[in-house]
Amino acid sequence: MNIGTALTNSATKALLLGSGELGKELTIALQRYGVEVIAVDRYPDAPAQHVAHRSHVIDMTDSEAVKKLIALEQPDFIIPEIEAIATAALAEIEAEGLCTVVPNARAIQLTMNREGIRTLVSEQLNIPTSRYAFAQSFAELNAAIDNGIGYPCFIKPTMSSSGKGQSMVKSPDQLQAAWDYAKASGRVDTGKVIVEAKIDFDFEITLLTVRAKNAQGEIETYFCDPIGHVQEHGDYRESWQPQAMTAAALALSQDIAKKVTTEIGGLGLFGVELFIQGDKVWFSEVSPRPHDTGMVTMVTQAQNEFELHARAILGLPVNTQLQKIGASAVILGGIDATGVVYEGLAQALAVPDSEVRLFGKPEAFVNRRMGVALASAPNVNEARANAVKAASLIVIKPSE
Ligand SMILES: Nc1ncnc2c1ncn2[C@@H]1O[C@H](COP(=O)(O)OP(=O)(O)OP(=O)(O)O)[C@@H](O)[C@H]1O
Ligand SMILES: [Mg+2]
Repeated sequence: MNIGTALTNSATKALLLGSGELGKELTIALQRYGVEVIAVDRYPDAPAQHVAHRSHVIDMTDSEAVKKLIALEQPDFIIPEIEAIATAALAEIEAEGLCTVVPNARAIQLTMNREGIRTLVSEQLNIPTSRYAFAQSFAELNAAIDNGIGYPCFIKPTMSSSGKGQSMVKSPDQLQAAWDYAKASGRVDTGKVIVEAKIDFDFEITLLTVRAKNAQGEIETYFCDPIGHVQEHGDYRESWQPQAMTAAALALSQDIAKKVTTEIGGLGLFGVELFIQGDKVWFSEVSPRPHDTGMVTMVTQAQNEFELHARAILGLPVNTQLQKIGASAVILGGIDATGVVYEGLAQALAVPDSEVRLFGKPEAFVNRRMGVALASAPNVNEARANAVKAASLIVIKPSE
């Protein structure tokens, strides 16, 4: 494809809906190819807005606000970075054919609601998932568990991410609290929760899967090496690449990821979340965009997940090869404060083969991800230890 000159009439423009840390790296990747990037978020000075050509602050769940902004900016690409978006507006814009929604409007619609993607993957594609049911009332939830899902199980709002509103329930006496929490904390109250039987996995992975054009211009599916990760309260804390697994489980994982992403379609990178036990694999969910656990690729791959997404979107060839073993560890706020100060960067970067990304979020919360430490090493254990060590050396303080 041809790329214009940013900030002139010929510009190739990308509008980012959501401007967090993943959007920030994607912005940088797109700008390296000369793309003009417009970063949108619901609050000012979000991470990607620090590096984009310009930015807007709107309520991205408001269809009219989204449509008005798109009419104003006339982007070539609309790239949703978060799930809480007025998806109906995206479908309308896509139907008008004036720009590309990445990877496509249906993908955004399907994956923002657990019901859409879960039903498609389990019932149409016949891919193994945890046993699940949807419930619109406490009585329905109770019945679904008694009629086969059993305990322990996970209760999640159908529209939520980063573990919000999600709890694991081990016995009936914990159910009411889980129901109340899910109802109160969903991003949008769809009136429904999903209940999933707990899978006793050995480990979980993110399989970054790229749909990109090859040299002949045909769409091909490419896989990165599997990324292992640790989650706490539904949010990731550490990730590493590669995650060792059996050849059979890897083949099955790739097969599942290919089926799901082919069904979704479009061009771009996807984060396919899978649970693994021996040679068995269950699909959990998929992000039609770079994945937080995939930040590790900033030290492991020649083309990290943001570059892969940028290239795929622009119709350019990709290379998903792993170059180094590495790990990431998140840097949490630890305090509630605005305009915080980061101490210890020099100490953190003295850890061998480490890197640190500070996202520049204007406000810290105790559990908010403010940065990430990365390390490469000869083996995963050493990489993990070094990433955790580098992260721990960054101390977040209130400003004087
Ligand atoms: N059915 C299940 N069995 C076992 N573990 C589960 C199950 N569902 C969720 N988990 C655990 O909780 C984590 C978060 O779940 P899930 O990915 O569905 O939530 P999320 O809110 O979409 O999180 P994120 O946005 O961070 O991916 C999973 O990565 C896994 O560790
Ligand atoms: Mg998840």
